[in-house]
Amino acid sequence: MSLLAVEWDDAVEHRGALRLLDQTVLPDRTEFLVVRTVDDLVDAIVRLAVRGAPALGVAGAMGVVVAMDQGEREGWDPARLDAEVDRVRHARPTAVNLAWGVDRVRPLMGEGRDAVLAEARVVAAEDEAANRELSRLAADWLLERIDRPRLRVLTHCNAGALATSAWGTALGVVRELHARGRVELVHVDETRPLLQGARLTAYELAEEGIPHVVQVDSAAASSILRGLVDCAVVGADRIAANGDVANKVGTLGVGLACREAGIPLLVAAPWSTVDLAMADGSSIEIEERPGEEVTGEGDRRTAPAGSRGFNPAFDVTPARFVSAVATERGVVEPAAGVGPGSVQSPSA
Ligand code: MRU
Repeated sequence: MSLLAVEWDDAVEHRGALRLLDQTVLPDRTEFLVVRTVDDLVDAIVRLAVRGAPALGVAGAMGVVVAMDQGEREGWDPARLDAEVDRVRHARPTAVNLAWGVDRVRPLMGEGRDAVLAEARVVAAEDEAANRELSRLAADWLLERIDRPRLRVLTHCNAGALATSAWGTALGVVRELHARGRVELVHVDETRPLLQGARLTAYELAEEGIPHVVQVDSAAASSILRGLVDCAVVGADRIAANGDVANKVGTLGVGLACREAGIPLLVAAPWSTVDLAMADGSSIEIEERPGEEVTGEGDRRTAPAGSRGFNPAFDVTPARFVSAVATERGVVEPAAGVGPGSVQSPSA
């Protein structure tokens, strides 16, 4: 995967601009959005043109530069600039990385936009390094526990290079396993309603030449219980201190099925996704998206006119169903009964 989801493009005009790969049109078209205003950035985040927790972290950090550059062009006072940065920070609520990315660079605003941009670039570089390290640790963890020459892995949503600064988390683990010659097949949940699995994960796996099949989300439980997969590997949007995991809606069902089948559910995420301020998952805000995303496909309505859609974008998998959380700091095993604080004490 050579395409970057989020990048500061120095070639645009005199100070550069934020460049986003428009993930709403993949895999049909490869198009980029040049973002020069807070309105455009918030719109891109809400429409999921940029998405995935770590990519949102980088977009948030670079979004502060977007706000500063727009503020300078339009003569904003400090209060207005602050309010616009807050709009970026709150554009989507569930992935902690977005607020984390904004907060990481915000203290540097007094030093000027170049200092903020430099730090935002560090955020991106650190994310890639974290992804590569956690992928190695997670692959080791899986291979120590699953006695098969090549693994059959189920994944849900897209936690690949497109969802991060580069490399990927859950798909980073798959890429690491593939590089070691240890992947047989990846079962890709299509991820209704916006098809991040069918459109984006399948695209990334195809680019990497990794064997995969796309299945409807409702096939996940039976694929797991029929013994068609050896483990599930997913990303995360926010991990509470006790190991509860918020991720794309449907992850909970995958976790329940894995528990019943006795196979591991491994959550792969950079440390920036861990939110120690949340004791457990019960206070994580779950984004609810427009019902029309469920009652139709694109512009075509599929449900009867009077039917309303219910569209929570995420769910919370309790720690007791999470076999392992792999971050760049190590692997912890919440389901092993370590209890509250387990994510704070990585084993490696
Ligand atoms: O709504 P999305 O596409 O932003 O949801 C993305 C997910 O749920 C991912 O699994 C998560 O952000 C981890 S990405 C490395």
